[in-house]
Amino acid sequence: MNAPTMQGLTIQAPSYVKNAKLIAWVADMAALCKPEAIHWCDGSKEEYDRLCQQLVDAGTFKKLNPAKRPNSFLAVSDPTDVARVEDRTFICSQQKENAGPTNNWMAPAEMRATLQPLFDGCMKGRTMYVVPFSMGPLGSPIAHIGIELSDSPYVAVNMRIMTRMGKAVYEVLGADGDFVPCVHTVGAPLEAGQKDVSWPCNKTKYIVHYPETREIWSYGSGYGGNALLGKKCFALRIASNMGRDEGWLAEHMLILGVTNPEGKKYHVAAAFPSACGKTNFSMLVPPAGFEGWKVTTIGDDIAWIKPQADGSLRAINPEAGYFGVAPGTNMLTNPNCMRSLDDGVIFTNVALTDDGDVWWEGMEQDAPGKALPAHLIDWQGKDWTPQIAKETGAKAAHPNARFTVAATNNPALDEAWDDPKGVSIDAFIFGGRRSTTVPLVTEARNWVEGVYMAATMGSETTAAAAGQQGVVRRDPFAMLPFMGYNMSDYFQHWLDLGKKLEASGAKLPKIYTTNWFRKGADGKFVWPGYGENMRVLKWMIDRVEGNQTEGIEHITGVSPRYEDLNWTGLNFSAEQFATVTSIDKAAWEAELKLHEELFKQLEHHLPKELPETKAAIEQRLAA
Ligand code: OXD
Ligand code: MN
Repeated sequence: MNAPTMQGLTIQAPSYVKNAKLIAWVADMAALCKPEAIHWCDGSKEEYDRLCQQLVDAGTFKKLNPAKRPNSFLAVSDPTDVARVEDRTFICSQQKENAGPTNNWMAPAEMRATLQPLFDGCMKGRTMYVVPFSMGPLGSPIAHIGIELSDSPYVAVNMRIMTRMGKAVYEVLGADGDFVPCVHTVGAPLEAGQKDVSWPCNKTKYIVHYPETREIWSYGSGYGGNALLGKKCFALRIASNMGRDEGWLAEHMLILGVTNPEGKKYHVAAAFPSACGKTNFSMLVPPAGFEGWKVTTIGDDIAWIKPQADGSLRAINPEAGYFGVAPGTNMLTNPNCMRSLDDGVIFTNVALTDDGDVWWEGMEQDAPGKALPAHLIDWQGKDWTPQIAKETGAKAAHPNARFTVAATNNPALDEAWDDPKGVSIDAFIFGGRRSTTVPLVTEARNWVEGVYMAATMGSETTAAAAGQQGVVRRDPFAMLPFMGYNMSDYFQHWLDLGKKLEASGAKLPKIYTTNWFRKGADGKFVWPGYGENMRVLKWMIDRVEGNQTEGIEHITGVSPRYEDLNWTGLNFSAEQFATVTSIDKAAWEAELKLHEELFKQLEHHLPKELPETKAAIEQRLAA
């Protein structure tokens, strides 16, 4: 392969890289970003270990005590670079209407002109890593390939966990295969002799998507979805555009398998906004009373779903690892996740114990009376004690602290998680975080009603995004921060897909909404959640199977009666059940006004089926 050089920099691609378009693009980007060196990642364990050691030497990583947490590291970020930056995220479609009212937009030419000077020389003094990755099982007809160029070795090692990353991707890509080009820089060039900081970033941030040309450009952040571009940027924002154009779905959904005691297996895809217990649900351990039931994880965050000739919807998890929220995770809330974190983990922004292990808020809450650690170094490098926490409210771990871990660490990993054919979806779940109004579980009476409930979903905000927490915001399909085009066109895409599947005579997946988060008069959660969500999941599976319990029909669909759920092993009264399932007329009148506001905001191309469904709900509410 030819080896263009520029300003003393050799672009030389390894001999196994045959894709001329890729090599030319790397050369162009190197000419723009002016890195000191280029490293073509091969994805080997040896390379991963070397980069981790380099990160330790640079002070970005701290190696954790191998006796406590083997092969694991702790990174702490700059305190200004801790979450997704929605106000700095742009969908730069040619037409503003195609980005829609829920996205920031700038004309592509204007954005390119803005980014050009920022990217010019942005990698000076740093290495540009060429990170080849497959979103989904290598070579799967549902998978797609991306190449990320990044000046962050933290990104390179995280991408090896989060995606199928390495040399084998080039075999699938071949000489003329297509890839999504993703460019990432921390935006902190080093002048000759300048000492680096442990978490380089820039206070100016741009997370930019060009949907028509399927490109991603990310500037200034080294954190999470801002920097690991396979995840939210590619697998949701760009892929939602690919899905619309090609007739498939890219969704913010976990995928799980449920096997009943008779050995029959079902697959469920579930959309929840960030930090709403999605990872917990994807790794659910069935409680007492559910002997013989098994829940297995295919994915914890994103699903790519392609309709097949037989009308089935087959789904893959495009990712290969979990980038999950640590605080709140413990042996009670998610034992499978805790076990996944025993070995080979990158932790970001959790606290360090005195014996070289990690800690986060909630870790102690899996047994009554468990003591807090006497002393920690918090995520900002300061001393933390229970007394300091009491006096100042200081958190040991940042509320959006994360772990990065390979899916293969998960003891509940589904045997088909890496199957190129994917799994066939039987039901969709949409679940927001609402203290009031929305019942524990509702089954939509038909596809359109399901789309309506997903489109109008609201959720109280969490620490996964910068900004105010705990306010209800509409989060259609849990996709608000991740939608790559006009939201109303996306609703239409779902409706069109339903019509197409129906016309083919296929049995459509059922659609459910859930809310694990209703609170009682004392302000406490009423539903116990976690493993107990199995009770709700079983009801859904019964309905999918056609074991129709009567349920209760109400304004938005069908919910179970108290006697329709299996209560063996749980003390949960009919009164408590009424608290989490009741439909409050006044609350729903107010809720429907908010749906109206949403529809006003989304009026451009809003499918008529949505206001029609709203009118039907209003009629039922009035009756
Ligand atoms: C995530 C998120 O990181 O949704 O998955 O914020
Ligand atoms: Mn997510």
